[in-house]
Amino acid sequence: MPNLALSPRFESAIVTQAPKTTTELQQEIDCLRAQLVEAQKMTALGELVGTTTHEFNNVLMTIINYAKLGLRQQDHESRDKAFNKILSAGERAAKITSQVLGMAKNRAHEFEPTCLNSIISDSLFLLEKEMQKYRIELDVNLQDIPQVRAIGNQIQQILLNLLINARQAIGEGGRIDIRTGFDVENKLVSMVVRDYGPGISQEKLRKIFEPYYSTKSGPDETGRGGTGLGLSACRDIVNAHDGKIRVESSLGKGTCFTIMLPVASTCTAPTPHFNMAPNAGPVPTGQNH
Ligand SMILES: Nc1ncnc2c1ncn2[C@@H]1O[C@H](COP(=O)(O)OP(=O)(O)O)[C@@H](O)[C@H]1O
Ligand SMILES: [Mg+2]
Repeated sequence: MPNLALSPRFESAIVTQAPKTTTELQQEIDCLRAQLVEAQKMTALGELVGTTTHEFNNVLMTIINYAKLGLRQQDHESRDKAFNKILSAGERAAKITSQVLGMAKNRAHEFEPTCLNSIISDSLFLLEKEMQKYRIELDVNLQDIPQVRAIGNQIQQILLNLLINARQAIGEGGRIDIRTGFDVENKLVSMVVRDYGPGISQEKLRKIFEPYYSTKSGPDETGRGGTGLGLSACRDIVNAHDGKIRVESSLGKGTCFTIMLPVASTCTAPTPHFNMAPNAGPVPTGQNH
């Protein structure tokens, strides 16, 4: 190996490289931060496009298959059935595109009183077919909660990230719990996503919020994950909302993420709740971020 210390090129590099000033270093940090935010946004958009394209394709398959059935079987009963199926699939497709347009239109970075329960319902609607495909059992328990001060799109981004991570961690046939709650004393609304997957070791738990940390080899068959930007984006969004994100995990038992957000000051009455399943017990070991 050549001795780099004696190389004229290396020497001249040292001579001309003046030490960076604090201002220059700060500028570099600001620039890298801006690049990270951009990468997080692009990843979120990519994952959203993946989610909706996947769902949209499912709907198109239904429409095509029932249109074929209606053409093949020309009696009134079969045709009515085919038209009804095509109609409801078309309505579902319209709802999916309005979700995407809503996300795209509503990009203004404005905080407003936001209903977490509706964001959860909208996100579950987008992931419904995917969860069915992987035979994931969803236990949803949404309590009466006041509105929070939030940017709705960003909260939906957090939820999609957590749900997709949970789905990827548990594989086929697992269970995910989603619930909301209200801590009256601290005026914080909580949103919990718990899975019963393999869990995360203490050593890895310390790293999961770091940008670009991923244990996945790349995107999965639905085109998502593997960038290591999902949880770092979740943490940054929660911080910008003056909220808290907490993770508890136990190897072999599962992982539980809790997001806590402050109640909107012009808060309205709690939103109506609906329960679909009982709460699950706590998972030990955790970290706050
Ligand atoms: N629910 C979960 N169960 C187990 N591990 C998880 C879970 N959520 C996140 N992780 C771990 O945290 C890492 C970082 O997650 P994330 O920032 O979303 O990046 P990515 O999904 O692109 O890998 C994942 O690669 C995985 O190792
Ligand atoms: Mg992820």
